[in-house]
Amino acid sequence: MERRQALAGIAAAAATLAMLGGAAGGAAAQDAVKVGLILPMTGPFASTGKQIESAVKLYVQQNGATVAGRKVEVVLKDDTGPADTTKRLAPELIVNDKVSVLAGFGLTPLAMATAPLATQGKVPMVVMAAGTSVITERSPYIARTSFTLAQSSAIMGEWAAKNGIKKVVTLVTDYAPGHDAEKFFKEHFAAAGGTVAAELRVPLQNPDFAPFLQRVKDAAPQGLYIFVPSGQGAIVMKQFVERGLDKSGIKLIGPGDVVDDDILNGMGDAVLGTITAHFYSAAHPSPKNKAYVEAFKKATGGMRPNFMSVGGYDGMHLIYEALRKTGGKTDGDALIAAMKGTAWESPRGPISIDPETREIVQNVYIRETKRVDGEIHNVEFATFQAVKDPAKVKK
Ligand code: PHB
Repeated sequence: MERRQALAGIAAAAATLAMLGGAAGGAAAQDAVKVGLILPMTGPFASTGKQIESAVKLYVQQNGATVAGRKVEVVLKDDTGPADTTKRLAPELIVNDKVSVLAGFGLTPLAMATAPLATQGKVPMVVMAAGTSVITERSPYIARTSFTLAQSSAIMGEWAAKNGIKKVVTLVTDYAPGHDAEKFFKEHFAAAGGTVAAELRVPLQNPDFAPFLQRVKDAAPQGLYIFVPSGQGAIVMKQFVERGLDKSGIKLIGPGDVVDDDILNGMGDAVLGTITAHFYSAAHPSPKNKAYVEAFKKATGGMRPNFMSVGGYDGMHLIYEALRKTGGKTDGDALIAAMKGTAWESPRGPISIDPETREIVQNVYIRETKRVDGEIHNVEFATFQAVKDPAKVKK
């Protein structure tokens, strides 16, 4: 019943949007430019919401709440995680709050659900977190400042095979970004001479990794390639140790989601030596990042920024840049056009928005999890520059 009501709500909102004909940018010129920020602020993925919200606030605090003569107002909505809520919140933000931009999207299903509404309302949608490749193809109004799993997984696959890890079991969360992580790792790992001995998938909701980890132990591969969404890394590592995998000699590898910076310090010594490919480490050695980490900690009472936070920080920058280019005009077509090709230095390193695909182009770093000055960090030791989403690169 709830679902039917939600669907009816979407249909009504879609009809309103069609009538408006994309009039979201029609508010009087002197009104504030509203950014509708939809994030999981409660529930199992609340850490993503907290990180991104903090980064968005920090960006506004550092850069002022006015751009191109327009005041920017962020309207935050809690979608509570992988639920139908986003489908109700997005049309409300467009129709009632008259937001000029939608942003956030902590999980792929939520971004996918909102994409048709962005198209109908002609409202740019900045994906700050979700990482499945296909998302940006679901609406011409989407631009992404987060990452794709394919970017890091392809590089991890190639790196592992070339560095003596030849037999691997993959363990991924059973939903779209996990499937991307599995597919792109395997393709590039196999092409470089590696063999995937088994492919395991764990449910997204309330996962119990123990039986899967037992299978990994029994298969005794050289490496375990693991993807879990941000927020679940601590549970996996706990069960990894409980099953004795830390003493099995099986090397832990993956995209960097499992060794999430905000919870890394609590993971204990079992996590040391993990090798991951990822676009952001709080230990990234640039002046820009040092300043970012310091400011973020100061603003949040000591929280270490993770990779989700930079998606939010850079997402705000993209919105500010687009408004600057349009002279404060909020017409959806003008804003998304202005976002294409934007390039800047992020705390993660140099990034840009591919003008053809609206997808992020960024460095991918190979890192080893190490203890540095008493704290656990992902220490970068190799860089793959300006990586495009491999899912969109024509073969
Ligand atoms: C996603 O749902 O797209 C997602 C969420 C968390 C991650 C990666 C991908 O760490």
